[in-house]
Amino acid sequence: MKNKIAPSILSADFGNFARDVKRLESAGADLVHIDVMDGHFVDNLTFGAGVVSALRVQTHLFFDVHMMVENPEKYVEDFAKAGADSMSIHVEATHHIHGALQKIKNAGMKASVVINPGTPVEAIKTVLPLVDMVLVMTVNPGFGGQKFIPEMMDKVRELAQIRTDKKLDFEIEVDGGIDDQTIKVAKAAGANVFVAGSFIFNGEVEKNIEKLRVNL
Ligand code: DX5
Ligand code: ZN
Repeated sequence: MKNKIAPSILSADFGNFARDVKRLESAGADLVHIDVMDGHFVDNLTFGAGVVSALRVQTHLFFDVHMMVENPEKYVEDFAKAGADSMSIHVEATHHIHGALQKIKNAGMKASVVINPGTPVEAIKTVLPLVDMVLVMTVNPGFGGQKFIPEMMDKVRELAQIRTDKKLDFEIEVDGGIDDQTIKVAKAAGANVFVAGSFIFNGEVEKNIEKLRVNL
C-alpha cells in the first residue's frame, strides 16, 4: 500500500489555515488531516464543516476528516457537502457504527473507523469489510503534542493480519505522537498512513515532511 503523510492542521496557525494548507500542498503532503472535536467526546473544541468548506477552495489535497464527536452520523451530509473526501468515526462514539459507516459511503465519501487506545480490534471486526481505512489512535484523542503509545502496534499488526487472512483492502492509519522515529515503528508494524501535527508544524513544514518521508 502507498505510504502517505497526513499533516494535521490541529497544529497549524488557526488564524492562517488557508496559507498553511497551501504550504502543505506545495511541500508534498499526501493529504490533510482535519481534527473535528465537539467538547463532549473529547475535552477540546476545534472546528466544523464551515472550516472544511472554506479550505476546500484553497487546495486539491485529499481531506481526511477525523471526527472526535458524539453521534458523528448526524454530520455526514454537512461534511460531504463541505468537500470532505473521507470521514473517520470512532466506534466509541455511536451505537450504530455499521449504519453510520454505510451513511458515509452513501454520501460519496471514503469511510473509516477509529479505535481509541483502550479499545481492542475485536470491537470493529464486523465492520472491516465495509471500511476504506482503520485509524488506530496512538494517543488518547483530544490534544496534539502527546507521547506515542508503542503498545498500540500490536493492534496494527493484528489488523494487517486480518486484512491478509480475509483478503480485505483497508488502509491502516496511525495518529498521535508520530515523529521521525515513531514513524519507523508504525511502518514496521504495518501502518501506511501517518498523521503528524506538532512534528510537522514545529519549525519548517517542508523540512519536517522530508524528515518523515525519508523513513518510509
Ligand atoms: C489528537 C488528534 C491528532 C493530533 C496529532 O486527538 O487526533 O490528529 O493532531 O497531533 P500530534 O502529531 O502532535 O500528536
Ligand atoms: Zn486526528
